[in-house]
Amino acid sequence: MNSSEADLAHIAVVGTGYVGLVTGTCLADLGHHVTCNDVNPQRIEALAAGQVPFYEPGLEAIIQRTVSAGRLRFTTDLRQALQGAAFAIVAVGTPSDAAGAADLTALHKVVDGLAAAAPKGLVAIIRSTVPPGTGDGVQRRLRDAGRPDLQVVNAPEFLAEGTAVKDFQEPDRLVFGGDAKAAQEVAKLWEGIRPVAKRHLVDRATAEVAKYAANTFLAARVSLINEVANLCDAVGADVRAISAIVGEDTRIGAKFLRPGIGYGGSCFPKDVQALAFTARSLGLNLAVAEAAETTNNAQWQRVHAKALKALGGSAQGKAVAILGIAFKPETDDTRYAPGLRLAKALVEGGAKVRMHDPIAKVPHDLVQQGVTQSNGPDQAIAGSDVVVLATEWKQYNALDWPALAKKAGRPVLVDGRNALPWEALVKAGWSVEGIGAHPPRLTVTP
Ligand code: UDX
Ligand code: UDX
Repeated sequence: MNSSEADLAHIAVVGTGYVGLVTGTCLADLGHHVTCNDVNPQRIEALAAGQVPFYEPGLEAIIQRTVSAGRLRFTTDLRQALQGAAFAIVAVGTPSDAAGAADLTALHKVVDGLAAAAPKGLVAIIRSTVPPGTGDGVQRRLRDAGRPDLQVVNAPEFLAEGTAVKDFQEPDRLVFGGDAKAAQEVAKLWEGIRPVAKRHLVDRATAEVAKYAANTFLAARVSLINEVANLCDAVGADVRAISAIVGEDTRIGAKFLRPGIGYGGSCFPKDVQALAFTARSLGLNLAVAEAAETTNNAQWQRVHAKALKALGGSAQGKAVAILGIAFKPETDDTRYAPGLRLAKALVEGGAKVRMHDPIAKVPHDLVQQGVTQSNGPDQAIAGSDVVVLATEWKQYNALDWPALAKKAGRPVLVDGRNALPWEALVKAGWSVEGIGAHPPRLTVTP
């Protein structure tokens, strides 16, 4: 506990998904009294019994210690969560609708709940990613509902799944958008964080756009390096060396320059689409943002084409092993996972698709289409005509690839993340195809 008693607050958190649960738990760990609320009774029951509903490294231990300390509680009853609360953090989903706009139905429902039951003077903190104008709209909605006493502050999250706890505890920066006094009060909740991160106290629209801008920048970087990788494929250059060379330019920086099968997850696809949609509705064309999505939607197809080529042009009757189900390592989240789009195309092309992941599960719709889940990577690979790496879990690097070469029907690998130890694989008899790079591995002088 880092904050002084006077700074500690009672906080309700609405929505116990990846964002709400990490935020609520970590705030409780800073000493605040947090009650998490969710409409999903199974989720709340599981949490109350000490079970974390998804995989997020480090989270379970903090839930356990904050629950034991009596600072973290769970309830399905919003009124109960709001009792005595000075703040309510809204972290419900804001999925894309059919047109690409953020669907704010859940958020508005929660806001109506706050209008009905929030204690006087409560500050509502919008943590969900929302289009510009949403915070102002919520403030008006509360006023129209007879609650001008409630203030609205946007505090966007920059929590990447798999490192969300660390991202909360050691943020690059914090953003609080709203009326200066209310934004300052919300910023105080994060005061226990050491070393103190830079805080930006801005207006609501700036906070809202900042979040979309950050994710769109990152998504566009991934799409741009994927385009460079695709060019490398055509001209025989090595994108791994190019990522290093480009990233060593301090103006560019080394992160998010890993090409592959494309980005997924619950944020990049949805946020880039929502930003572009908002701009279109204002008569603006965000061409780069739109292109990031267009390129990304085609990227998994390049891996598909490589797999088909390895299969001699047709997937019909072939056995395909896909390693990785989650959209990236260290999470069990499969939302918009590019490996799943690949699996769907292959199974629809007549392949027998077996997938493996250390923790993520094949979603129900793909199971119904015939995609199976293997208990271990060796089970997936045995007898396969091609192996595709879709998610770069570290443990795949340490597999016994020489033994697997003998188990595979044909030892052919498409590395959709350029992540595996290619030299060793080639020595072990594997034929390897990467994204914009081919064995043997090129070396860069340190
Ligand atoms: C979500 C958004 O997708 C993201 O844009 C935003 O930044 C934060 O919220 P995430 O935590 O990954 O991110 O969402 P999800 O895992 O879908 O969890 C949302 C939770 O809210 C679910 O547990 C759901 O049951 C709950 N919920 C939804 C409510 O409690 N009340 C509602 O009215 C709707
Ligand atoms: C993202 C933001 O990073 C985070 O700040 C928050 O706003 C939520 O959204 P997340 O979606 O959890 O986090 O994962 P992130 O690590 O950003 O990766 C997104 C996708 O890009 C993944 O599919 C990943 O595999 C892909 N990626 C990332 C690449 O393909 N290449 C890279 O170099 C980096």
